[in-house]
Amino acid sequence: MKRAACFLALGLVVFSACALGTPKLIRGPYLQSATTNSMVIRWRTDDSSKGLVRYGLTEATATNVVSHAGKLTEHIVLLTGLKPATRYFYAVGTETNVWLSPVTNTMTFVTPPPVGPAKPTRIWVIGDPGTASANQRAVRDAFYRWNRAEVPDLWLMLGDNAYSAGTDAQYQAAVFHMYAWLLANSPLWPTLGNHDAGSANSGTQSGVYYDVFTLPTLGQAGGLPSGTEAYYSFDYANIHFICLDSQDTDRSPTGMMAEWLRDDLASTARDWIVCFFHHPPYTKGSHDSDKLSDSGGRLVQMRENILPILEQGGVDLVLTGHSHCYERSYLLDGHYGYSTNLTAGNFKDRGDGREDGSGPYRKTSGTKPHEGAVYVVAGSSGQRSGGKLNHPVNFLSLNRLGSVVLDINGQELSLKFITEKAQLRDYFTIRK
Ligand SMILES: [Fe+2]
Repeated sequence: MKRAACFLALGLVVFSACALGTPKLIRGPYLQSATTNSMVIRWRTDDSSKGLVRYGLTEATATNVVSHAGKLTEHIVLLTGLKPATRYFYAVGTETNVWLSPVTNTMTFVTPPPVGPAKPTRIWVIGDPGTASANQRAVRDAFYRWNRAEVPDLWLMLGDNAYSAGTDAQYQAAVFHMYAWLLANSPLWPTLGNHDAGSANSGTQSGVYYDVFTLPTLGQAGGLPSGTEAYYSFDYANIHFICLDSQDTDRSPTGMMAEWLRDDLASTARDWIVCFFHHPPYTKGSHDSDKLSDSGGRLVQMRENILPILEQGGVDLVLTGHSHCYERSYLLDGHYGYSTNLTAGNFKDRGDGREDGSGPYRKTSGTKPHEGAVYVVAGSSGQRSGGKLNHPVNFLSLNRLGSVVLDINGQELSLKFITEKAQLRDYFTIRK
């Protein structure tokens, strides 16, 4: 509340508090761009102030204080000099040492472990969540319940994060209000969807999506510098994550994103490569990857131009959304045409990938080219929209609300689809 409003509208007690100049926390805190030794903490207040972060290894010793320059409502503080794989307690506040968020057991973060060695890692993945609806809440609550209120190591948002045009108010409802607890405790790594692009521009790095997220452009979190927040990569333990912009960046094979992707893939030495972007290369859900007219050709372009680069670079898993359903492929390689051109040779393994079925998908260790990848559409974290759900690359296609849980432990990657009723409806494993 602005001070002037306090003068006019409220009584003496409230006026006293306002006169102290204490702004109200209206967004966050939320964690961004986590690295082994740094963390970005962001929050918003209703009035400008100099923001402080208080942090430490325990609640009692959370006494280190870092601030940003100037008085702002959009607060961004970079903590540096942190230890890897370490839990920190923190709070955000103002220059007058008024703490807007309490330091409690639910306000902590754990820095990523040293890059390279394996560490059991849990990743939550949601696609097209941003409806701000009961469906979105059900998917969220089902995961929280299924995961026993444990915090995942990190989480991915596959685009269409806030309907219908990615405005700041829509982000407030569908992201910052919806996931307040998780945002404060686990770093979020998003990608841009077509609806987010209603209020953002990748070419100029402007608009709401680019304003509200702090993403690595300089390779701060691992990988090669991309020079843009539209696409970027980062490392976590033995995993290399790549975020691409399938919406608003040149998708041609000679474009800057493709050139960066080739170099980034060639430079990684991690055991696993997980790539995520919005438009699915294979889908028969609420979108059809066999139609060049669908979404301005983006699905076809990502398949024809980008998949060959990813598979040459040894990608293991590709996560997308856009179709509001769950679709999961067999272990595939080299299918860049329409589904009518799919051949038996494109299947590296036509089993179910399950320990209790035909067995995990097998790859040799490292990231050798063309050993196969699994393609997952997970676009039903906020709504479901049906479709034919019969793309022949897929082992399973479901018109169900839900989200994906990805576990990577050493030489094993396991993925699960959890419905809005916290039921397990799909799972598979890749083993190296
Ligand atoms: Fe979309």
